[in-house]
Amino acid sequence: MFNVVEWKDNKVVMIDQRLLPTKEKYNTYKDYKGVAKAIKDMVVRGAPAIGVAAAMGSALGALQSTAKTPRAFKSDFNRVCKHLAATRPTAVNLFWAIERMRGVFEANSAKSTGEIKKILIKEAIKIHDEDIEINKRMGKNGAKLLKMNSTILTHCNAGALATAGYGTALGVIRAAVEAGKNVKVFADETRPFLQGARLTAWELKKDGIDVTLITDNMAGYMMQQGHIDAVVVGTDRVASNGDVANKIGTYSVAILARAHKIPFYVAGPTSTIDMNIKDGSEIPIEERSEKEVSHFAGVRVAPAGINIKNPAFDVTPSRLVTAIITEKGVVTAPYKKSIKKLFSK
Ligand code: MRU
Repeated sequence: MFNVVEWKDNKVVMIDQRLLPTKEKYNTYKDYKGVAKAIKDMVVRGAPAIGVAAAMGSALGALQSTAKTPRAFKSDFNRVCKHLAATRPTAVNLFWAIERMRGVFEANSAKSTGEIKKILIKEAIKIHDEDIEINKRMGKNGAKLLKMNSTILTHCNAGALATAGYGTALGVIRAAVEAGKNVKVFADETRPFLQGARLTAWELKKDGIDVTLITDNMAGYMMQQGHIDAVVVGTDRVASNGDVANKIGTYSVAILARAHKIPFYVAGPTSTIDMNIKDGSEIPIEERSEKEVSHFAGVRVAPAGINIKNPAFDVTPSRLVTAIITEKGVVTAPYKKSIKKLFSK
């Protein structure tokens, strides 16, 4: 297999996802600013993986501090957290992980800087390891929803590469395959960054899971032809009312699924649920570089000087979501109530 993000010899090692599927290269970071840049530049991407990278980045930042007083150490750590939080705005796991690291820092602030550094490293590794466990639980919960011999459409990459391992949406698919359900996958290419073509297809093929790649505009036709039994996607942030932010194009897939009476499932850990926001309109949508749209694999495909838009995510209203799969269970509408209940467990 492969390691997405790993703490190794007081450094952070990440597979460079920009180079997949043609090159399997690992980058080593010994500076928190390098980790922040790697998140921004998509070396590591996918909501839970970004969270893990940020947690490790903050531990790295603490380790780099040469502060001599607790006050100076805390101010260094705050600066590190602020820098990491400014990388990508949509996936709430980034902020969730940073807040968790801040909480651990606060809870241990009476200890020596040396001790706090060790505790922060331990916590970042714990976040990593927990993520894999959570995904496996989520997978088991979601696999029950998938029928024997069914074909699942997925969008973007919500797989092992988007997490510490196993995946969210692809974790559900993996668990269904492990349960002997003979599930097949249709992967949307996912323009403009091609997470579906480059990453989902790569990791499913590596696992021997039957995957068929389609371009984004083929999804409706495939549904109309009866090739798709269910949609399973990941998420970057779920609002407290069940509205779901995910990779741009997810909303179109949800509309198509509703039109064809196909269930539309969203898989995400509870750390992706943002109880501080009322609905999806409060989710910040990242705008990425125009070049991702004007160019394809580095080659210009649109005339220079034209207007370009590149929102990286969209919001699917909860009315289009059949169920949200979490590690704590599967919830359905009315989401305000069922999501709230998840946090009382
Ligand atoms: O821009 P990306 O590649 O970070 O976007 C990733 C997605 O939209 C995923 O579907 C989402 O983070 C869920 S990953 C388990």
